Amino acid sequence: MKILAIETSCDETAIAVVKFHNVQRLAQKGIQKHSEKMPKISILSNIISSQIKTHQKFGGVVPNLAKREHQKNLPLVLLKALKYGGFPISKYQFPISKKISKDKLQMLEKILDREPELLKRFKKHVLPLKPPVIDAIAVTYGPGLAPALWVGVNFARVLAVLWGRPLIPVNHMAGHAYSAWLQVKDRKLQIVNVKFPALALLVSGGHTELVLMRGHGKFRVIGETLDDAAGEAFDKVARILGLGYPGGPEIERLAKSSEALPRKICLPRPIINSPDHNFSFSGLKTAVLYLTRDLGPRKTEELKAVIAKEFQDAVVEVLVKKTITAAKKYKVKAILLGGGVAANKMLRKKIAERTEKELPGTSCQLSIISLTGDNALMIALAAFFVGKKKPPNKVGVDANLKLS
Ligand code: KG4
Ligand code: ZN
Repeated sequence: MKILAIETSCDETAIAVVKFHNVQRLAQKGIQKHSEKMPKISILSNIISSQIKTHQKFGGVVPNLAKREHQKNLPLVLLKALKYGGFPISKYQFPISKKISKDKLQMLEKILDREPELLKRFKKHVLPLKPPVIDAIAVTYGPGLAPALWVGVNFARVLAVLWGRPLIPVNHMAGHAYSAWLQVKDRKLQIVNVKFPALALLVSGGHTELVLMRGHGKFRVIGETLDDAAGEAFDKVARILGLGYPGGPEIERLAKSSEALPRKICLPRPIINSPDHNFSFSGLKTAVLYLTRDLGPRKTEELKAVIAKEFQDAVVEVLVKKTITAAKKYKVKAILLGGGVAANKMLRKKIAERTEKELPGTSCQLSIISLTGDNALMIALAAFFVGKKKPPNKVGVDANLKLS
């Protein structure tokens, strides 16, 4: 089974083509019931085109710029994904007029009538292609930035109509959860067997949530942030400290440089002991803001590094403590970590250490670092495990989509 997946929920334009082996045989047995038998995977291509440079000067992602960039990038990213996937992409394989009826062309034009730039490029680069041999097209339909999501969804819809393939709408957060299913074993990326119930800590720029999974697609959000997401807090604190965007890697780098310095400050660990499983990071960000303001000209580079380290420690401590507490309460067999902030080495180290120490018998599966940020491979995985095929005209966007 081959899935072509598309991800455009934020500032990465990503397309992957993934082949799942032995699917029919496993389906006969029922993947859910026999989850120890995972299909083998071949990643034919996994292309990510980042818009970071476009948004950097604004200190964050600008939705309409993201939309414009996705329109420009999608057809080219598709050509690259198909080429690396071994599909023929030489242009003008056949005269378009002979193969595509007027009605079909009108239908495609109608789907892309709000994306004129994409339509132009679609006609030039995609229309002439020989349809690739794939079984389905998966696409992120939420949560995310609505203008960015629409470009991806409409692109997926025209491909589905053009190539006559079914469409699988995918929740972006399910993608981040399923990225933890891919681990390096015997020097190869493999889909591993995750035992249920599992608890996923999903930490990104827009979300911070603890999700209990009792089976494939059986999600229950048991806790979430009441205000800022963890990644958002990293980005905002980075801005306060005069660092670049995205803030997570910048704070991590600065924090590392302070390791030998004496600790001089103490930041709060918001709602760390609350009985629920929620988070709150905006007070922590405000504490950094007041601290740096009060320091004024005394804010040396050294002090900034100490603040970065203390801020990172505070976020990590809260995330890990709340995850371990919930994991104990729900007696989970696996802890999963996904989302952009999951690239943070301190977070990875602490969550793995505490799982090993306090929850023997529970596995801790961290998404591999290259899959923590937004990518389409995770969308293909989620589509495979929990996706439901839909006709193209029934797929829309839900910018506030929840996992359920
Ligand atoms: O999942 P993601 O790529 O996009 C969203 O869906 O939001 O997450 C992006 C977020 C940004 O806020 C970024 O600052 C944060 O992930 N991030 C990190 C690190 N790398 C990226 N946060 C902490 N430490 C990192 N190393
Ligand atoms: Zn994300």
